[in-house]
Amino acid sequence: MDFDTAFASSLATNGAVPEDVDQSPAAQQLARRLETKTATIGVVGLGYVGLPLAVEYADQGFSTIGIDLDEERVGQLNAGDNYLDDLDDARVRCLVQDEVLESTATYADSGDIDVFFICVPTPVTDTNEPDTSYIEGATASIAEHLRPGQLVVLKSTTYPDTTGGVVQPILEEAAQKKGLTLGEDYFLAHSPERIDPGNEEYTTANTPIVAGGVTEACTHLTKKALEQIVSEVHAVSNPKVSEMEKLLENIFRSVNIALVNELAQLCDRIGEVSMWEVVQAASTKPFGFMPFYPGPGLGGHCIPIDPHYLSWLARKHDFETSFITLSARINEGMPFYVAESIIEAIARQPVQLSNASVLVLGVAFKRNVDDTRHSPAGPIIRQLQEKGIDTIRYHDPHVPEYHVNGTEQTTMDVPRAELTPETLEAHDATVIVTDHDAFDSHVIAERANAIVDTRNALEEVTDPALRDKIILLGGGDE
Ligand SMILES: NC(=O)c1ccc[n+]([C@@H]2O[C@H](COP(=O)([O-])OP(=O)(O)OC[C@H]3O[C@@H](n4cnc5c(N)ncnc54)[C@H](O)[C@@H]3O)[C@@H](O)[C@H]2O)c1
Repeated sequence: MDFDTAFASSLATNGAVPEDVDQSPAAQQLARRLETKTATIGVVGLGYVGLPLAVEYADQGFSTIGIDLDEERVGQLNAGDNYLDDLDDARVRCLVQDEVLESTATYADSGDIDVFFICVPTPVTDTNEPDTSYIEGATASIAEHLRPGQLVVLKSTTYPDTTGGVVQPILEEAAQKKGLTLGEDYFLAHSPERIDPGNEEYTTANTPIVAGGVTEACTHLTKKALEQIVSEVHAVSNPKVSEMEKLLENIFRSVNIALVNELAQLCDRIGEVSMWEVVQAASTKPFGFMPFYPGPGLGGHCIPIDPHYLSWLARKHDFETSFITLSARINEGMPFYVAESIIEAIARQPVQLSNASVLVLGVAFKRNVDDTRHSPAGPIIRQLQEKGIDTIRYHDPHVPEYHVNGTEQTTMDVPRAELTPETLEAHDATVIVTDHDAFDSHVIAERANAIVDTRNALEEVTDPALRDKIILLGGGDE
């Protein structure tokens, strides 16, 4: 068996990288810098993924440079001000004060950086096609200052062959002019991010991570770099595997959520069978089942977007990804289903639809976070407005301002209300879109006139008189 075959087969069986990878002088030097924590880490894109990553490296004593084109973010960070809910303010301030973490809006000094992590957005276009322009822009800026001994790791979620087909050619063009060879002088890999904002149990340190390099030396160095902050790094044969692996994780969630959302709607038709109770009962099976719960629709930057990356790639291969299409259809239909339930709740009140008022509780896409990107609250509010309901307010302890995108590029401000018993009483219907811990289920159940609960947030409320006011999504209310 030759070396490459042995390497691939070792990865395929146990994700282990052989320690005896034949390393070039540049690779050996970078490995040494990582081991002695003298390498400089560069994190490109200081958002939900990049900033926590930069903080982890800085915490481990690595000199860490954050690069973001958003000058406001850079200014805030250099002043020691954290802007992410999930990060500890004092931790960020200390790292900035100790000068281990600094930020910049230019790539001018990126020649000083040994390891780049690219953490830029991967949105879709209006026609749901991958928009890799942020990745291309960041790579082109890195390429300008490329030098021997640098490792570039793409962390953004994307379709298989972005690292090899988009990032690599940009770096190679610059490398050729400088006489640098990939895998010997500079290195490239993909390692998808698994951060789960709001999750207190699984953090960067205790969540295993996957990495696939363009060559074995690239994989080896990426693994070494990541092992400085993560307990377990699972190496795969090439970046296409790691890119596909991340999409599998997200599509797996999307498909399973769609399944329970479809069955939740069926439960509502059948009556007297709650999907929440069904999932709870099925979860007693200790093998072969994993619980997923109904909800008002998908949100965030990942699960509603990433599957489109794979569908697009599949179409290029004359292949249709039926599961992705079907689950997107079901999940994207959920805000409409919720809006119908809100109209039903209003119909139980002595008020006409056009005079009705609705209070939306939670506009972040999931509990205890401030991220409103693609939140189902948006389409629910838009749908209510289209049905003629003008008075819609929201409350979210994590979101001080909220705007909804209307049709034809318009943006509408949604007024914020304080969450008081009087506010609850003043609205004809209250809908719980996000089950933040800060919401007091008993106060909501007692004071709201009619409630649509899309998260089973009021599970603890058992008083039949109060339950009568609640329409639970998938709760089997006929
Ligand atoms: N948010 C999550 O929970 C999560 C989890 C796993 C994976 N991901 C993936 O990670 C990637 C980043 O997501 P995010 O949520 O951190 O995005 P984000 O929008 O929060 O942050 C991205 C940052 O990149 C900056 N940026 C854009 N172009 C740049 C450039 N050329 N140079 C420097 N900075 C640039 C932006 O100004 C922004 O601050 C995406 O591919 C996403 O799918 C996100």
